[in-house]
Amino acid sequence: MTPQNFTIAAIPGDGVGSEVVDAGRTVLDAMAEHNGAYSFTWEEYDWGSDYYSRTGLMMPEDGLERLRPVDAIYFGAVGWPTIPDHITLWGLRIAICQGLDQWANIRPVNFLPNVPSPLRDAEKRDLDWIVVRENSEGEYSGFGGRNFHGREGLGQVATQNAVFTEVGCERIMRYAFDLARSRPRKKLSCVTKSNAQQHGMVLWDDVFKRVAAEYPDVESDSVLVDAMAARFVLNPESLDVVVASNLHADILSDLGSALAGSLGLAASANLNPEKRTPSMFEPVHGSAPDIAGKGISNPVGAVASAALMLDTFGLAGEGDALRASIAETCRQGILTRDVGGTATTHEVTQALIDNLAVAA
Ligand code: NAI
Ligand code: MG
Repeated sequence: MTPQNFTIAAIPGDGVGSEVVDAGRTVLDAMAEHNGAYSFTWEEYDWGSDYYSRTGLMMPEDGLERLRPVDAIYFGAVGWPTIPDHITLWGLRIAICQGLDQWANIRPVNFLPNVPSPLRDAEKRDLDWIVVRENSEGEYSGFGGRNFHGREGLGQVATQNAVFTEVGCERIMRYAFDLARSRPRKKLSCVTKSNAQQHGMVLWDDVFKRVAAEYPDVESDSVLVDAMAARFVLNPESLDVVVASNLHADILSDLGSALAGSLGLAASANLNPEKRTPSMFEPVHGSAPDIAGKGISNPVGAVASAALMLDTFGLAGEGDALRASIAETCRQGILTRDVGGTATTHEVTQALIDNLAVAA
């Protein structure tokens, strides 16, 4: 049988991005070699801050067209202290998410063995939740402007508008309800701030209520974002699927991964659920300039993102095998410094490969 081949565009980007994407590629290639039923063809793109320094662009003008034909995009991180963050983020990551309409951003929070959590008794509790982030509009729509440069005595004015469309709200709510329905606890919490934001967030709530009526088997509630931040810390057992706007979910998912022990562990998938365009898989963390180049970055977030990629390829058993290998590697105490260990990126990557055979 000829192996099923998947073409993946790798965009390592900046800082630790290249270290963790390398780690993920090594693990995926080892899996393909071991299994034989599938294979990966990698296309590597050197887009990011260095590319910007050379060309004045974060990616070439036809960048999106080059990405369109691939089966998936595997992304590291963008951002470097020499270039303003809004240029790097909008020029590459947001340009890809919005340009390819990857409207659902999935961010699971996993608690791993041997990784100390600030929730002291985390190992004894049943903690496992997924943040579903609206990834195409909301607070990151880019509408607004800056004016009155040099206005005598009064200073400049900037507006940054949040945009909520009924279509955008409805598709992310449906995605979240379907995901909740597929999980054992069948619970969905919708994050809002409609007490203070009386236009966009009220539409968001209205759509949530309307869609909820079609899912009587899913238990749902609506929670203000500030209260939800407290609930993440105080009562995380109550969480199953959490749906939130672009900004709210960005913040809450970092909080979730910090509770699980480190930003370096957190995985993320930017999905176009209709599969009209390739989806993009990336660790939640940024380019970590403070540790970049030292070989100590945690590859687990990038490798767990690769597991989400295998799920969407329909190789679901393989995604589970990879997650089992991550848990086994942690159980053996093979951990990078951010989670209290001494192992290098390379040592953790090798252990992830060795443990695949054990986990299988
Ligand atoms: P960051 O996520 O890069 O780093 C925050 C902290 O977490 C640092 O102490 C870092 O050492 C640690 N950390 C991050 N990833 C790690 C890993 N794999 N292993 C071990 N420790 C890890 O966030 P920061 O410092 O706010 O931003 C740095 C740059 O990254 C900025 O330019 C920012 O705009 C960009 N950024 C890019 C993102 C993306 O491409 N998706 C997401 C977040 C930030
Ligand atoms: Mg973030």
